Amino acid sequence: MNILILGSGGRESAFAWKIAQSAHCEKLFIAPGNAGTTQYGTNVNIKVTDFEGIKALVLKEDINLVLVGPEEPLVKGVHDFFLADEQLKNIPVVGPQQEGAQLEGSKDFSKQFMEKHNIPTAAYKTFTKDTLQDGLTYLATAGLPVVLKADGLAAGKGVLICLTLEEAQTELTAMLADAKFGEASSRVVVEQFLTGIELSVFVMTDGNSYKILPEAKDYKRIGEGDTGLNTGGMGSISPVPFADAAYMKKVEDRVIIPTIEGLKKDGVPYKGFIFIGLMNSNGEPWVIEYNCRMGDPETESVMRRIDSDFVDLLSGVAEGNLNEKEIIISPKTAATVVMVAGGYPGEYLKNKVITGTENVRDSIVFHAGTAMNGNDVITTGGRVLAITTVQDDIFSALQQATADASRIYYDGMYFRKDIGFDLL
Ligand code: AMP
Ligand code: GLY
Repeated sequence: MNILILGSGGRESAFAWKIAQSAHCEKLFIAPGNAGTTQYGTNVNIKVTDFEGIKALVLKEDINLVLVGPEEPLVKGVHDFFLADEQLKNIPVVGPQQEGAQLEGSKDFSKQFMEKHNIPTAAYKTFTKDTLQDGLTYLATAGLPVVLKADGLAAGKGVLICLTLEEAQTELTAMLADAKFGEASSRVVVEQFLTGIELSVFVMTDGNSYKILPEAKDYKRIGEGDTGLNTGGMGSISPVPFADAAYMKKVEDRVIIPTIEGLKKDGVPYKGFIFIGLMNSNGEPWVIEYNCRMGDPETESVMRRIDSDFVDLLSGVAEGNLNEKEIIISPKTAATVVMVAGGYPGEYLKNKVITGTENVRDSIVFHAGTAMNGNDVITTGGRVLAITTVQDDIFSALQQATADASRIYYDGMYFRKDIGFDLL
Protein backbone atom coordinates (compact mmCIF):
# COMPACT_ATOMS: atom_id res chain seq x y z
CA MET A 1 0.00 0.00 0.00
CA ASN A 2 0.94 3.66 -0.35
CA ILE A 3 1.51 5.51 2.90
CA LEU A 4 1.71 9.20 3.77
CA ILE A 5 3.42 10.41 6.95
CA LEU A 6 2.61 13.96 8.07
CA GLY A 7 5.43 15.81 9.82
CA SER A 8 9.07 16.75 9.52
CA GLY A 9 10.90 15.91 12.73
CA GLY A 10 13.01 13.13 14.18
CA ARG A 11 9.84 11.24 15.09
CA GLU A 12 8.67 11.23 11.48
CA SER A 13 12.15 10.20 10.29
CA ALA A 14 12.01 7.20 12.62
CA PHE A 15 8.50 6.31 11.41
CA ALA A 16 9.67 6.59 7.80
CA TRP A 17 12.76 4.44 8.45
CA LYS A 18 10.61 1.73 10.00
CA ILE A 19 7.75 1.86 7.49
CA ALA A 20 10.11 1.77 4.50
CA GLN A 21 11.27 -1.68 5.69
CA SER A 22 7.79 -3.16 5.58
CA ALA A 23 6.81 -5.57 2.82
CA HIS A 24 3.35 -3.96 2.91
CA CYS A 25 4.70 -0.52 1.94
CA GLU A 26 4.87 0.19 -1.78
CA LYS A 27 5.28 3.96 -1.98
CA LEU A 28 6.04 6.17 1.00
CA PHE A 29 5.50 9.92 1.08
CA ILE A 30 6.46 12.35 3.82
CA ALA A 31 4.90 15.82 3.99
CA PRO A 32 6.85 17.96 4.36
CA GLY A 33 9.73 15.75 5.57
CA ASN A 34 13.35 16.88 5.90
CA ALA A 35 16.73 16.30 4.23
CA GLY A 36 16.96 12.80 5.76
CA THR A 37 13.51 11.42 4.97
CA THR A 38 14.33 11.28 1.24
CA GLN A 39 16.36 8.13 2.09
CA TYR A 40 13.08 6.37 2.89
CA GLY A 41 10.50 7.94 0.60
CA THR A 42 9.42 11.01 -1.33
CA ASN A 43 9.12 14.38 0.36
CA VAL A 44 6.21 16.59 -0.64
CA ASN A 45 6.33 20.20 0.42
CA ILE A 46 2.90 20.53 2.04
CA LYS A 47 2.27 21.86 5.53
CA VAL A 48 0.73 19.46 8.05
CA THR A 49 -2.19 21.86 8.57
CA ASP A 50 -2.87 22.40 4.84
CA PHE A 51 -5.78 19.95 4.68
CA GLU A 52 -6.72 20.80 1.07
CA GLY A 53 -3.11 20.28 0.01
CA ILE A 54 -3.04 16.95 1.83
CA LYS A 55 -6.27 15.93 0.12
CA ALA A 56 -4.86 16.69 -3.33
CA LEU A 57 -1.73 14.65 -2.56
CA VAL A 58 -3.69 11.69 -1.17
CA LEU A 59 -5.88 11.52 -4.28
CA LYS A 60 -3.02 12.09 -6.73
CA GLU A 61 -0.74 9.44 -5.23
CA ASP A 62 -3.46 6.96 -4.37
CA ILE A 63 -2.55 6.95 -0.66
CA ASN A 64 -4.06 4.08 1.36
CA LEU A 65 -3.10 5.15 4.87
CA VAL A 66 -2.14 8.44 6.54
CA LEU A 67 -0.01 8.47 9.69
CA VAL A 68 -0.10 11.77 11.53
CA GLY A 69 3.10 12.63 13.44
CA PRO A 70 2.50 15.88 15.36
CA GLU A 71 -0.46 16.99 17.48
CA GLU A 72 -1.36 20.20 15.67
CA PRO A 73 -3.19 18.70 12.66
CA LEU A 74 -5.00 16.25 14.96
CA VAL A 75 -6.16 18.96 17.34
CA LYS A 76 -7.20 21.01 14.29
CA GLY A 77 -9.23 18.08 12.98
CA VAL A 78 -7.38 16.46 10.08
CA HIS A 79 -9.01 13.10 10.82
CA ASP A 80 -12.49 14.71 10.96
CA PHE A 81 -11.70 16.45 7.66
CA PHE A 82 -11.08 13.05 6.04
CA LEU A 83 -14.26 11.53 7.49
CA ALA A 84 -16.36 14.45 6.27
CA ASP A 85 -15.03 14.27 2.69
CA GLU A 86 -16.72 11.96 0.16
CA GLN A 87 -13.44 11.15 -1.59
CA LEU A 88 -11.37 10.69 1.57
CA LYS A 89 -13.74 9.12 4.05
CA ASN A 90 -12.58 5.55 3.40
CA ILE A 91 -8.88 6.34 3.61
CA PRO A 92 -7.75 5.52 7.14
CA VAL A 93 -5.99 8.11 9.27
CA VAL A 94 -3.89 6.92 12.20
CA GLY A 95 -4.35 9.62 14.82
CA PRO A 96 -7.52 10.51 16.73
CA GLN A 97 -10.35 12.78 15.68
CA GLN A 98 -10.62 16.22 17.26
CA GLU A 99 -12.63 14.99 20.22
CA GLY A 100 -10.05 12.38 21.24
CA ALA A 101 -7.16 14.74 20.46
CA GLN A 102 -8.45 16.90 23.31
CA LEU A 103 -6.61 14.51 25.61
CA GLU A 104 -3.66 16.64 24.55
CA GLY A 105 -5.37 19.73 23.17
CA SER A 106 -7.15 20.61 26.42
CA LYS A 107 -5.53 20.05 29.80
CA ASP A 108 -8.92 20.67 31.44
CA PHE A 109 -10.55 17.96 29.28
CA SER A 110 -7.81 15.48 30.14
CA LYS A 111 -7.99 16.23 33.87
CA GLN A 112 -11.78 15.83 33.86
CA PHE A 113 -11.40 12.58 31.95
CA MET A 114 -8.90 11.21 34.47
CA GLU A 115 -11.00 12.29 37.42
CA LYS A 116 -14.11 10.69 35.94
CA HIS A 117 -12.36 7.38 35.24
CA ASN A 118 -10.34 7.21 38.46
CA ILE A 119 -6.99 7.45 36.76
CA PRO A 120 -4.27 8.56 39.21
CA THR A 121 -3.28 12.18 38.58
CA ALA A 122 -2.37 15.28 40.60
CA ALA A 123 -5.20 17.15 42.36
CA TYR A 124 -6.28 20.22 40.36
CA LYS A 125 -8.74 23.04 39.78
CA THR A 126 -9.44 24.94 36.57
CA PHE A 127 -9.88 28.72 36.40
CA THR A 128 -10.93 31.27 33.77
CA LYS A 129 -10.74 35.07 33.60
CA ASP A 130 -14.09 35.23 35.39
CA THR A 131 -12.84 33.10 38.28
CA LEU A 132 -9.35 34.65 38.55
CA GLN A 133 -10.03 35.89 42.10
CA ASP A 134 -10.99 32.38 43.20
CA GLY A 135 -7.80 31.14 41.55
CA LEU A 136 -5.64 33.59 43.47
CA THR A 137 -7.33 32.53 46.71
CA TYR A 138 -6.93 28.85 45.82
CA LEU A 139 -3.21 29.37 45.19
CA ALA A 140 -2.82 30.75 48.71
CA THR A 141 -4.09 27.45 50.13
CA ALA A 142 -2.33 25.13 47.62
CA GLY A 143 1.09 23.79 48.59
CA LEU A 144 4.32 24.81 46.87
CA PRO A 145 5.67 24.32 44.31
CA VAL A 146 2.49 24.59 42.31
CA VAL A 147 2.00 23.86 38.61
CA LEU A 148 0.09 26.18 36.24
CA LYS A 149 -0.92 24.79 32.85
CA ALA A 150 -2.42 26.70 29.96
CA ASP A 151 -5.41 24.64 28.84
CA GLY A 152 -4.62 24.66 25.11
CA LEU A 153 -1.58 23.95 22.96
CA ALA A 154 1.21 26.43 23.67
CA ALA A 155 4.15 24.95 21.75
CA GLY A 156 5.42 23.17 24.86
CA LYS A 157 5.73 26.43 26.80
CA GLY A 158 2.38 26.45 28.58
CA VAL A 159 3.44 24.69 31.80
CA LEU A 160 4.91 26.76 34.62
CA ILE A 161 6.24 25.35 37.86
CA CYS A 162 6.06 28.13 40.45
CA LEU A 163 8.17 28.03 43.58
CA THR A 164 6.59 30.96 45.45
CA LEU A 165 3.01 32.14 45.99
CA GLU A 166 3.87 35.56 44.57
CA GLU A 167 5.22 34.03 41.35
CA ALA A 168 2.19 31.75 41.04
CA GLN A 169 -0.27 34.62 41.50
CA THR A 170 1.60 36.85 39.05
CA GLU A 171 1.71 34.10 36.43
CA LEU A 172 -1.94 33.09 36.89
CA THR A 173 -2.93 36.72 36.38
CA ALA A 174 -0.69 37.01 33.29
CA MET A 175 -2.19 33.86 31.80
CA LEU A 176 -5.85 34.62 32.49
CA ALA A 177 -6.09 38.42 32.47
CA ASP A 178 -3.30 39.25 30.00
CA ALA A 179 -3.59 36.19 27.73
CA LYS A 180 0.10 35.30 28.17
CA PHE A 181 -0.36 32.28 25.90
CA GLY A 182 -3.20 33.78 23.87
CA GLU A 183 -6.36 31.73 23.58
CA ALA A 184 -4.47 28.70 25.00
CA SER A 185 -4.41 30.31 28.45
CA SER A 186 -8.05 31.45 28.52
CA ARG A 187 -8.39 28.50 30.90
CA VAL A 188 -5.68 27.47 33.33
CA VAL A 189 -5.32 24.22 35.24
CA VAL A 190 -3.71 24.72 38.66
CA GLU A 191 -2.21 21.46 39.75
CA GLN A 192 -0.37 19.87 42.65
CA PHE A 193 3.36 19.32 42.03
CA LEU A 194 4.39 15.67 41.80
CA THR A 195 7.87 14.44 42.66
CA GLY A 196 9.61 11.42 41.19
CA ILE A 197 11.06 10.24 37.89
CA GLU A 198 9.23 10.74 34.61
CA LEU A 199 8.47 7.95 32.19
CA SER A 200 6.89 7.97 28.72
CA VAL A 201 4.48 5.11 28.02
CA PHE A 202 3.04 4.57 24.54
CA VAL A 203 -0.11 2.77 23.55
CA MET A 204 -1.45 2.07 20.09
CA THR A 205 -5.21 1.57 19.90
CA ASP A 206 -7.93 0.90 17.34
CA GLY A 207 -10.48 2.17 19.87
CA ASN A 208 -11.16 -1.31 21.19
CA SER A 209 -7.99 -3.22 21.81
CA TYR A 210 -4.51 -1.87 22.38
CA LYS A 211 -0.82 -2.71 22.20
CA ILE A 212 1.74 -1.32 24.60
CA LEU A 213 4.84 -0.12 22.77
CA PRO A 214 8.28 0.01 24.40
CA GLU A 215 8.44 2.64 27.14
CA ALA A 216 11.12 5.32 27.15
CA LYS A 217 12.68 8.03 29.25
CA ASP A 218 13.08 11.49 27.78
CA TYR A 219 15.61 14.15 28.82
CA LYS A 220 13.99 17.56 28.53
CA ARG A 221 16.50 20.03 29.93
CA ILE A 222 19.17 21.58 27.73
CA GLY A 223 22.02 21.12 30.22
CA GLU A 224 23.84 18.08 31.54
CA GLY A 225 22.59 16.84 34.90
CA ASP A 226 19.06 17.95 33.87
CA THR A 227 19.77 21.65 34.30
CA GLY A 228 18.79 24.77 32.37
CA LEU A 229 15.86 25.51 30.11
CA ASN A 230 13.25 23.06 28.90
CA THR A 231 13.58 21.82 25.32
CA GLY A 232 11.58 19.58 23.02
CA GLY A 233 13.76 16.70 24.27
CA MET A 234 17.53 16.13 24.21
CA GLY A 235 17.64 12.35 24.20
CA SER A 236 15.85 9.15 25.11
CA ILE A 237 16.46 5.65 26.42
CA SER A 238 14.37 2.52 26.02
CA PRO A 239 13.79 0.29 27.97
CA VAL A 240 13.77 2.06 31.32
CA PRO A 241 15.11 -0.19 34.10
CA PHE A 242 12.60 0.83 36.80
CA ALA A 243 9.69 0.14 34.44
CA ASP A 244 9.92 -3.61 35.03
CA ALA A 245 7.07 -6.08 34.51
CA ALA A 246 5.53 -5.44 37.95
CA TYR A 247 5.60 -1.68 37.41
CA MET A 248 4.19 -1.90 33.89
CA LYS A 249 1.39 -4.13 35.21
CA LYS A 250 0.39 -1.31 37.57
CA VAL A 251 0.50 1.14 34.66
CA GLU A 252 -1.63 -1.15 32.54
CA ASP A 253 -4.23 -1.85 35.25
CA ARG A 254 -4.50 1.65 36.70
CA VAL A 255 -3.90 3.82 33.67
CA ILE A 256 -3.98 2.10 30.27
CA ILE A 257 -7.10 -0.05 30.69
CA PRO A 258 -9.14 2.74 32.37
CA THR A 259 -8.05 5.11 29.61
CA ILE A 260 -9.12 2.84 26.75
CA GLU A 261 -12.32 1.83 28.57
CA GLY A 262 -13.01 5.46 29.53
CA LEU A 263 -12.82 6.59 25.92
CA LYS A 264 -15.22 3.80 24.95
CA LYS A 265 -17.67 4.60 27.77
CA ASP A 266 -17.61 8.28 26.87
CA GLY A 267 -18.23 7.44 23.21
CA VAL A 268 -14.96 9.04 22.07
CA PRO A 269 -13.67 7.25 18.95
CA TYR A 270 -9.90 6.86 19.05
CA LYS A 271 -7.60 5.31 16.45
CA GLY A 272 -4.00 6.18 17.01
CA PHE A 273 -1.35 6.58 19.66
CA ILE A 274 -1.75 7.61 23.25
CA PHE A 275 1.40 8.92 24.87
CA ILE A 276 1.06 8.79 28.63
CA GLY A 277 3.50 11.03 30.47
CA LEU A 278 3.89 9.47 33.92
CA MET A 279 5.54 10.46 37.15
CA ASN A 280 6.88 7.48 39.04
CA SER A 281 6.56 8.45 42.71
CA ASN A 282 7.94 5.74 45.00
CA GLY A 283 6.94 3.00 42.61
CA GLU A 284 3.44 4.40 41.94
CA PRO A 285 2.46 5.77 38.52
CA TRP A 286 0.71 9.18 38.29
CA VAL A 287 -0.35 10.67 35.00
CA ILE A 288 1.17 14.07 34.28
CA GLU A 289 -0.31 14.40 30.83
CA TYR A 290 -1.64 12.65 27.78
CA ASN A 291 -0.49 13.35 24.24
CA CYS A 292 -2.45 12.24 21.20
CA ARG A 293 0.70 11.24 19.27
CA MET A 294 4.07 9.61 19.78
CA GLY A 295 6.89 11.42 21.60
CA ASP A 296 9.98 12.95 20.07
CA PRO A 297 12.82 11.91 20.72
CA GLU A 298 11.23 8.79 22.25
CA THR A 299 9.95 7.45 18.89
CA GLU A 300 13.51 7.24 17.57
CA SER A 301 14.39 4.78 20.37
CA VAL A 302 11.00 3.05 20.36
CA MET A 303 10.97 2.29 16.61
CA ARG A 304 14.35 0.65 16.89
CA ARG A 305 13.03 -1.80 19.48
CA ILE A 306 9.98 -2.93 17.49
CA ASP A 307 10.98 -6.06 15.60
CA SER A 308 7.58 -6.78 14.04
CA ASP A 309 6.18 -5.16 10.91
CA PHE A 310 5.02 -1.69 11.88
CA VAL A 311 2.72 -1.29 8.86
CA ASP A 312 0.91 -4.44 9.95
CA LEU A 313 0.28 -2.78 13.33
CA LEU A 314 -0.85 0.46 11.67
CA SER A 315 -3.26 -1.56 9.51
CA GLY A 316 -4.60 -3.16 12.67
CA VAL A 317 -5.40 0.31 14.03
CA ALA A 318 -6.96 1.37 10.73
CA GLU A 319 -9.04 -1.77 10.24
CA GLY A 320 -9.99 -2.31 13.87
CA ASN A 321 -8.32 -5.71 14.20
CA LEU A 322 -5.28 -4.72 16.24
CA ASN A 323 -6.07 -7.59 18.64
CA GLU A 324 -5.12 -10.04 15.86
CA LYS A 325 -1.69 -8.47 15.36
CA GLU A 326 1.51 -9.37 17.08
CA ILE A 327 4.05 -6.92 18.40
CA ILE A 328 7.59 -8.22 18.87
CA ILE A 329 9.82 -6.08 21.05
CA SER A 330 13.59 -6.37 21.14
CA PRO A 331 15.11 -6.88 24.61
CA LYS A 332 18.03 -4.66 23.58
CA THR A 333 18.56 -1.07 24.66
CA ALA A 334 18.11 1.89 22.33
CA ALA A 335 19.71 5.23 23.13
CA THR A 336 19.04 8.48 21.27
CA VAL A 337 21.18 11.60 21.52
CA VAL A 338 19.69 14.76 20.03
CA MET A 339 22.05 17.24 18.36
CA VAL A 340 20.74 20.80 18.54
CA ALA A 341 21.57 24.17 17.02
CA GLY A 342 23.75 26.69 18.85
CA GLY A 343 21.57 28.89 21.05
CA TYR A 344 18.66 26.44 21.25
CA PRO A 345 16.16 26.54 23.00
CA GLY A 346 16.49 30.32 22.70
CA GLU A 347 17.19 32.12 19.40
CA TYR A 348 19.33 29.67 17.50
CA LEU A 349 21.73 29.48 14.56
CA LYS A 350 20.38 28.33 11.20
CA ASN A 351 21.62 27.36 7.75
CA LYS A 352 24.85 25.77 9.02
CA VAL A 353 26.34 23.07 6.82
CA ILE A 354 26.36 19.60 8.40
CA THR A 355 29.36 17.36 7.74
CA GLY A 356 30.60 13.99 8.96
CA THR A 357 27.39 11.94 8.95
CA GLU A 358 29.20 9.44 6.69
CA ASN A 359 31.64 8.74 9.56
CA VAL A 360 28.92 7.50 11.89
CA ARG A 361 29.63 3.83 12.59
CA ASP A 362 26.92 2.08 14.42
CA SER A 363 24.00 4.47 14.83
CA ILE A 364 21.18 5.66 12.65
CA VAL A 365 21.18 9.38 12.00
CA PHE A 366 17.55 10.47 12.06
CA HIS A 367 17.17 13.96 10.64
CA ALA A 368 14.93 16.56 12.30
CA GLY A 369 15.59 20.25 11.52
CA THR A 370 17.50 19.82 8.26
CA ALA A 371 17.09 20.76 4.60
CA MET A 372 19.06 20.50 1.38
CA ASN A 373 20.84 23.56 0.02
CA GLY A 374 22.28 22.49 -3.32
CA ASN A 375 24.39 19.47 -2.40
CA ASP A 376 24.77 20.51 1.23
CA VAL A 377 22.65 19.39 4.14
CA ILE A 378 22.01 22.43 6.33
CA THR A 379 20.44 23.03 9.72
CA THR A 380 16.99 24.64 9.76
CA GLY A 381 15.56 23.82 13.18
CA GLY A 382 16.49 23.83 16.86
CA ARG A 383 16.67 20.07 17.07
CA VAL A 384 18.81 19.09 14.10
CA LEU A 385 19.60 15.36 14.24
CA ALA A 386 18.78 12.40 16.48
CA ILE A 387 21.51 9.76 16.73
CA THR A 388 20.10 6.37 17.74
CA THR A 389 22.03 3.22 18.66
CA VAL A 390 20.89 -0.22 19.76
CA GLN A 391 23.17 -2.36 21.96
CA ASP A 392 22.89 -5.09 24.58
CA ASP A 393 23.03 -2.71 27.53
CA ILE A 394 22.51 0.97 28.37
CA PHE A 395 26.15 1.76 28.82
CA SER A 396 27.24 0.46 25.40
CA ALA A 397 24.27 2.13 23.69
CA LEU A 398 25.09 5.48 25.27
CA GLN A 399 28.76 5.20 24.53
CA GLN A 400 28.12 4.41 20.88
CA ALA A 401 25.45 7.09 20.37
CA THR A 402 27.66 9.74 21.98
CA ALA A 403 30.73 8.65 20.02
CA ASP A 404 28.77 8.76 16.78
CA ALA A 405 27.33 12.22 17.57
CA SER A 406 30.92 13.42 18.02
CA ARG A 407 31.72 12.37 14.46
CA ILE A 408 29.26 14.94 13.08
CA TYR A 409 29.99 18.65 12.84
CA TYR A 410 28.19 21.93 12.18
CA ASP A 411 28.87 25.39 13.50
CA GLY A 412 27.38 25.77 16.99
CA MET A 413 26.46 22.09 17.40
CA TYR A 414 25.65 20.86 20.89
CA PHE A 415 24.44 17.64 22.47
CA ARG A 416 24.22 16.27 26.01
CA LYS A 417 26.78 13.61 26.86
CA ASP A 418 24.93 12.39 29.94
CA ILE A 419 21.71 10.99 28.41
CA GLY A 420 20.73 7.91 30.42
CA PHE A 421 23.55 8.11 32.95
CA ASP A 422 21.04 8.51 35.77
CA LEU A 423 19.72 5.02 34.91
CA LEU A 424 23.05 3.19 35.06
P1 AMP B 1 3.37 18.92 30.14
O1 AMP B 1 3.33 19.97 29.07
O2 AMP B 1 2.08 18.64 30.83
O3 AMP B 1 4.13 17.72 29.65
O4 AMP B 1 4.37 19.44 31.26
C1 AMP B 1 5.71 19.71 30.94
C2 AMP B 1 6.59 19.21 32.04
O5 AMP B 1 6.29 19.87 33.25
C3 AMP B 1 6.42 17.73 32.35
O6 AMP B 1 7.14 16.91 31.50
C4 AMP B 1 6.96 17.70 33.76
O7 AMP B 1 8.36 17.70 33.76
C5 AMP B 1 6.48 18.99 34.33
N1 AMP B 1 5.21 18.81 35.05
C6 AMP B 1 3.97 18.93 34.55
N2 AMP B 1 3.04 18.68 35.48
C7 AMP B 1 3.70 18.41 36.61
C8 AMP B 1 3.31 18.08 37.94
N3 AMP B 1 2.02 18.01 38.30
N4 AMP B 1 4.27 17.85 38.85
C9 AMP B 1 5.58 17.95 38.51
N5 AMP B 1 6.01 18.26 37.29
C10 AMP B 1 5.10 18.49 36.35
N1 GLY C 1 9.37 14.09 24.21
C1 GLY C 1 8.21 14.72 24.68
C2 GLY C 1 7.20 15.01 23.66
O1 GLY C 1 7.26 14.54 22.54
O2 GLY C 1 6.27 15.73 23.99
